[in-house]
Amino acid sequence: MRVAVTGAGGRLGRALIAALEDAPFTGPAGPTAWTRADFDLDFPAGIVPLLERDRPEVVINAAAWTDVDGCARNPSLAGARNADAVGVLAGAAAVAGVDLIQISTNEVFDSRRTDGRGYAPDDLPDPINAYGASKLGGELAARRAFAGGRGQLAIVRTSWLYGPPGNDFPQKILAAADRARDAGQPLRVVADEIGSPTFSEDLAEAIVGLLWAGDIRGTHDGIHHIVNTGHTSRAGWARELLRQLGRDDPIEEVPASTWPRASTPLLWGVLAPTPLPDGELMPTWQVALAHYLPTLRRQLVEAGAR
Ligand SMILES: NC(=O)c1ccc[n+]([C@@H]2O[C@H](COP(=O)([O-])OP(=O)(O)OC[C@H]3O[C@@H](n4cnc5c(N)ncnc54)[C@H](OP(=O)(O)O)[C@@H]3O)[C@@H](O)[C@H]2O)c1
Repeated sequence: MRVAVTGAGGRLGRALIAALEDAPFTGPAGPTAWTRADFDLDFPAGIVPLLERDRPEVVINAAAWTDVDGCARNPSLAGARNADAVGVLAGAAAVAGVDLIQISTNEVFDSRRTDGRGYAPDDLPDPINAYGASKLGGELAARRAFAGGRGQLAIVRTSWLYGPPGNDFPQKILAAADRARDAGQPLRVVADEIGSPTFSEDLAEAIVGLLWAGDIRGTHDGIHHIVNTGHTSRAGWARELLRQLGRDDPIEEVPASTWPRASTPLLWGVLAPTPLPDGELMPTWQVALAHYLPTLRRQLVEAGAR
């Protein structure tokens, strides 16, 4: 199976390339990595010659403008990159008979759920910030394009991604914990944002598993919620990270409103996971975090050496 990945230099993109290189179905040539130099969301028409050049059977669109505060400050650019460009990509793929996996987000939901359950794929999206609105626009544009196309479309929503190359929540929290310790202060972390931290490598493996099982290629307009299982607050995530590193830094739980942001964060951003092939479950978020620690430690050493 010839698989191309956009945003191949990003957090999820690089995990997807690594997982696809190990997959038995991508053949000796392996996956095709499209970086911004190959496919630029600001010049999406470039997808047509790219599809002709590389002839993928499946495209995984992991490229997006993921700066949520930047999107809030410039919603029209967010819409151009995360919605309109996806429409152009999906339109070209659908015409060429190429399947598309569009990566999306928990931020398409409104955060107002109060029954303690995660959002399911058939819950109605209703975004509360510009990033979520632009990503929902991408989902809808892709669905419109594939409504009359020959290929298959799958939408994979996820949340709170972390993993190599770092500069993610775990790495930022450790830097903040060091600063707080040096200042003799507790580490202040938001306690009223709840979500499911998801390790990029687990998500990539799950997407490869779906491709292998044929679930994505066989599921037109299928929506998959893929996250590590369980949920926690930002403060719970920080506490577990420090615990796993053998640290007991004091944490002061604060509301999200402590740090006003351009974007409105989701206080309840939990996705109900959809079943994976063979009934497998994604690892819990705590187990996934433990898997990341050796890489995180290496990244911290490298960051310190720079
Ligand atoms: N991060 C999260 O917590 C999270 C949560 C839910 C869903 N998602 C979704 O997961 C997907 C992957 O996100 P990620 O965490 O891997 O984000 P990321 O690390 O920011 O990667 C995004 C990729 O998109 C590329 N990109 C950005 N602007 C572009 C443009 N104008 N033209 C072409 N490429 C562009 C980036 O290229 P450069 O490397 O050149 O900048 C990068 O490779 C996205 O669809 C995102 O919406 C992310």
